[in-house]
Amino acid sequence: MQRPQSPAPRIMKRVFSGVQPSGSLTLGNYLGALRNFTKLQHEAECLFCVVDLHALTVPQDPKELYQRTLDVARIFVACGIDPKQATIFVQSHVPAHSELSWLLECTTYDGELRRMTQYKDKAAKQEVVTSGLLTYPVLMAADILLYQTDEVPVGDDQKQHLELARDIAVRVNNRFDEAIFKVPKPYIPPRAAGGRIMNLQDPMEKMSKSAENPRGNIALLDPPDAIRRKIKSAVTDSGREIYYDEENKPAVSNLMVIYSLCSGDSLEEIQDKYAGSGYGKFKEDLAEVVVETITPIQKRFAELSEPGVIEDILSDGRKKAEPLAIPTLERFQDRLGLLARS
Ligand code: TYM
Repeated sequence: MQRPQSPAPRIMKRVFSGVQPSGSLTLGNYLGALRNFTKLQHEAECLFCVVDLHALTVPQDPKELYQRTLDVARIFVACGIDPKQATIFVQSHVPAHSELSWLLECTTYDGELRRMTQYKDKAAKQEVVTSGLLTYPVLMAADILLYQTDEVPVGDDQKQHLELARDIAVRVNNRFDEAIFKVPKPYIPPRAAGGRIMNLQDPMEKMSKSAENPRGNIALLDPPDAIRRKIKSAVTDSGREIYYDEENKPAVSNLMVIYSLCSGDSLEEIQDKYAGSGYGKFKEDLAEVVVETITPIQKRFAELSEPGVIEDILSDGRKKAEPLAIPTLERFQDRLGLLARS
């Protein structure tokens, strides 16, 4: 039998990213990741995945998880990802993710996983810590490496996980003296370009879909009045001036980044526009700019509610993703000495 060989070189770069259906997606997810997905779909072969297996690393209500999995896919499309341009699919529909994850777990050290800051933070908040929470970054590495991914667009909270994926790829390639996995590059915007949108009530914490206090998060499906209220009550820094200074003005700097990304105005333009006008007017305008950004997404989201529409997109996505994944899995299985399926 012929041994599985390396895939033929590609002309277009390949992009992979994932979003967990673990809560209601936030403006942070949009500005840090989804917005970039929509840009990249025009210049690369893109795969965007609803990573339902990752959500299982902490307790989930089954009915909610089911609905949120569909909703994240609907949000992908509502944000502008075109299912004809990019492949949208559900992680658990392509079992190769779980299969590769196990093989990679056997090449990853326990100490590497225990050092992950997200593991330490999340484990500290759980009553019971599952082994899935610890091995979570290996499943993420499997997601990425399975597709010979060139670039991974994520927010900066995923940087450490991505570095681990790169380390695992290099380790495996060195061990077999063969490029089994492509070593993926991060695509992480700087903070001023949305890489880390902070909580409106605590600018030291990132905006998170699983945060306990929803007042600090803007959910993409929040009604306009809720958005206005949340922005009005956002904490600000001492002084009345509006300028960008992450260290001394973390709250205002965060609001300025949100304003800039939603309006297209640069940080300097915003600073000039609100020189001497105080926080009140700035926040009022910011609320409108955010509402204007989110309203069209909500409209498209509602239009996609017809039964079967998103399910069909996900079924097509699986059919496109799976054949791309299998050759890499089979090649790695072969090199490890696993018996080929006849
Ligand atoms: P998740 O579901 O927590 O977040 C989805 C994406 O949103 C980004 N993000 C943010 N960006 C800026 N500011 C914020 N406050 C903010 N909050 C979240 C995240 O960085 C992410 O890009 N482990 C991943 C999911 C995943 C994945 C993958 C990503 C699984 N497999 C493979 C890339 C490739 C996660 O939990 O993202």
